[in-house]
Amino acid sequence: MLAIDLTGKRALVAGIADDAGYGFAIAKALAEAGAGVVVGTWPPALNIFETLIRRGKIDESRKLARGGMLEFEKIYPLDAAYDTLADCPEEIRTSKRYNERGDFSIQGLADAMRRDFGDKPLDIVVHSLANGPEVKKPLLETSRNGYLTAIGVSAYSLVSMLQRLAPLMRPGGSAVSLTYLASERAVPGYGGGMSSAKAALESDTRTLAFEAGRKYGIRVNTISAGPLASRAASAIGFIEEMVDFWATWCAPCRISMPRGQKLWAEYEPRGMELYSVDTDDASPGREAEIRAFLQENGLRFPVAIDDGTASAAFSVSRLPTMMLLDRTGQIIWIHVGALTQSEEHALRATLDRAL
Ligand SMILES: NC(=O)c1ccc[n+]([C@@H]2O[C@H](COP(=O)([O-])OP(=O)(O)OC[C@H]3O[C@@H](n4cnc5c(N)ncnc54)[C@H](O)[C@@H]3O)[C@@H](O)[C@H]2O)c1
Repeated sequence: MLAIDLTGKRALVAGIADDAGYGFAIAKALAEAGAGVVVGTWPPALNIFETLIRRGKIDESRKLARGGMLEFEKIYPLDAAYDTLADCPEEIRTSKRYNERGDFSIQGLADAMRRDFGDKPLDIVVHSLANGPEVKKPLLETSRNGYLTAIGVSAYSLVSMLQRLAPLMRPGGSAVSLTYLASERAVPGYGGGMSSAKAALESDTRTLAFEAGRKYGIRVNTISAGPLASRAASAIGFIEEMVDFWATWCAPCRISMPRGQKLWAEYEPRGMELYSVDTDDASPGREAEIRAFLQENGLRFPVAIDDGTASAAFSVSRLPTMMLLDRTGQIIWIHVGALTQSEEHALRATLDRAL
């Protein structure tokens, strides 16, 4: 249980379709604190999400520390690109994943919540969604359409959600969205107008906090989240490097390194680079010892010889230390000690999502 008590409060988390993203983690933390949680899920992902839940595939992640499981009071279809159903083009409305979902617009969500829970059913709104169809394209190559879609879905959707959901919120309530560093710094790979969308989201948050604060007595904030290998981030091709710090004298390294080699062979073709970093003390025979160690253990990957700079940069204090870095150099997964089978599973799951 979190130190805050949200018993009797209800949260809407918009943007959950599996257990790998921020939305799920936030929903779980809110439930741990005692809040009821309803979810808004993008219709193209809704079927899969319902199946994951029905088949128990995310039961492990749904377990709450306080006992019991994370249960959603309702899962609503939500396409945050549309304010009302009339805004949605006919060919989408009648397509397979949408046609049996009723009103999946933002207005539809507000109406459904009022129907299901009454006039003032909400305390917390979490906007945990984004979409930029051209996110892999540099801004310089982004089309007007791609750019406007990124802004529409990832930034304007918050404005629209507050227009329609703030009237359902009880005074003292709070809305929060998730932004990203690329709003204020150039992050290569975060293209398609997504950096612009996050800048708009941050600017809108200030204005909405002022306006909705006065009009509805609610707070509006955005959190700049660190990198996480969610489904959305994985679509960007976001993991760049696996870095493994080791030394010839280190027994747990001997256990881990063949596993590391297997992973490298498997994931390198999918775009993962391995930096295997030897941290042995400087000595005249060091290179020969490393070569012998690699040969003895059947290891074939290239090795970088650290003069202490790399281990210091990553504050490596125990060996082996293995980490995954995203393209901005931030650590998104780290393991210290021998890479056991269960750790290998966790690492594979992260790589599979991200590559
Ligand atoms: N993962 C990261 O590294 C990272 C870093 C900083 C900020 N964020 C932000 O966190 C938020 C959640 O993303 P995540 O990385 O956890 O990924 P995620 O894939 O778990 O969440 C994104 C969700 O948006 C939904 N979505 C896409 N288009 C939609 C639409 N038109 N209408 C409704 N829903 C739609 C997707 O179905 C998905 O469930 C996003 O705003 C993202 O930009 C993520």
